[in-house]
Amino acid sequence: MLKWALAVGAALVLPAVASAQDAEKGKAVFNTSCKACHDAGEGGGKVGPGLKGIVGIKAGVHHPEYKYSQPMKDSGLTWDEATLDKYLSDWAKKLVPGTLMNFPGVKDETKRKDLIAYLKATGG
Ligand code: HEC
Repeated sequence: MLKWALAVGAALVLPAVASAQDAEKGKAVFNTSCKACHDAGEGGGKVGPGLKGIVGIKAGVHHPEYKYSQPMKDSGLTWDEATLDKYLSDWAKKLVPGTLMNFPGVKDETKRKDLIAYLKATGG
């Protein structure tokens, strides 16, 4: 019983620790792959909309002043971690045909996970 409790405890604590480190690495991925078009801080839209706090929010509504494309507004997506992973793994237009985001994806799965951890950390 005690062993079981310890195992559960470790499983709950470890991801939290990993996630802080991942977010640090993810920031570097963001700076190389996304920053040219997106701001993840307090800034508003650049070529793309600001992404601070995007995780868990519906597509096409985060920055009402940003002119989202109709396909993005109509996509019906919610940017949870799984959807972001899919969107960012390949050309963005594969998940959202007609999107203005002309981006070939972050092919490395670990980098993608780190990146999403970073985006999540901006939400706080
Ligand atoms: C070449 C410019 C460009 C790059 C690079 C780029 N994006 Fe985008 N992104 C856009 C544009 C433009 C939109 C708006 C799309 C639309 O309205 O169809 C967008 C939209 C998004 C959205 C949807 C936002 C919302 O409010 O619904 C997310 C999430 C996103 N980008 C994440 C990323 C991430 C993460 C990266 C880096 C891996 C990235 N983008 C790289 C231009 C870019």
